[in-house]
Amino acid sequence: TSRPVLFSGMQPSSESLHLGNYIGALLNWVSMQRDFTAFYCVVDLHSITVAQDPQQLRANTRQTAAQYIAAGIDPSECTLFIQSHVPAHAELAWVLSSITGFGEASRMTQFKDKSARYGTDATSVGLFTYPVLMAADILLYGTEKVPVGEDQRQHLELTRDLASRFNSRLGQTFVIPEAHIPKASAKIYDLQTPEAKMSKSAVSPAGLVNIMDSDAVTAKKIRSAVTDTEREIHFDPENKAGISNLLSIYSSLTDTAVPTLEEQYAGRGYGDLKKDLADVVVGTLGPIRDRALELLEDPAELDRLLDIGAEKATAVAERTLETVYDRVGF
Ligand code: ADP
Ligand code: NA
Repeated sequence: TSRPVLFSGMQPSSESLHLGNYIGALLNWVSMQRDFTAFYCVVDLHSITVAQDPQQLRANTRQTAAQYIAAGIDPSECTLFIQSHVPAHAELAWVLSSITGFGEASRMTQFKDKSARYGTDATSVGLFTYPVLMAADILLYGTEKVPVGEDQRQHLELTRDLASRFNSRLGQTFVIPEAHIPKASAKIYDLQTPEAKMSKSAVSPAGLVNIMDSDAVTAKKIRSAVTDTEREIHFDPENKAGISNLLSIYSSLTDTAVPTLEEQYAGRGYGDLKKDLADVVVGTLGPIRDRALELLEDPAELDRLLDIGAEKATAVAERTLETVYDRVGF
């Protein structure tokens, strides 16, 4: 098959993914696994660039992988694996760090922002070289396409520069990856503060819908969503942020255009919309949570799936690393 190679990684940063992650990222990943030779990696090496509790990190890594599989990431359609299971990531990162200029790395704005906020002694060297590890993640698999948001553009540019530099100094080795702009997906906002993006670092837990929440908790969060004092169900993010967010969620999960929903709810109350949406969200996330729980209660099965991923990833990564080591003179 000639499906282009796509690489994407996600940090295991909490016990549960949220509705924003599901609509904004997971749904795309599931559809992309059909059109691409997709590598999806839980990037635990990246996580330790800031202090982690080891037990929590281990649990979050498994929980994240389980939720991905439960949401439709199919280990037989793509390669789903844990970064630390494939040593070639750290090995290639070392080689690439040796062709990265110190000044070049110092210009990465994400690191500059973080070290300015927390101070250079509270910021690890790992965080500084994070973009080089990301370059290794991508380049090991002959990646052609990388879905990137604005915040990762500069890192992808560095990846491209390092790949070209290595190729021109030591011989053609790496594919030069390009940004993949996935088809537009809705941005989901906090249910209690609909001006802010839904995020795991939400101020109020009531504003954040988690995949692992119980049906009752999810339904309650939707029914308690902040709206406005008008009565019209109308999409207007400027003036009706809460209602517009509910309509976006509804539209994304049911594949119904927002104007169709507006027609459907003309003359009806906010309570009706919330009640129906609670059913939609519970109907979508409930089965994902249950499947994730099943996987977590069957560690051998989850290990089996992750071992398959590690094996498939290792086969490709080791081949690239062998060429790299040869070119370098090892
Ligand atoms: P968080 O903001 O909770 O820390 P991450 O930054 O870890 O989430 O995001 C992981 C993925 O989920 C990214 O691809 C991001 O674009 C997507 N995502 C996160 N929050 C939202 C949201 N509120 N709406 C849409 N997509 C989101
Ligand atoms: Na974030």
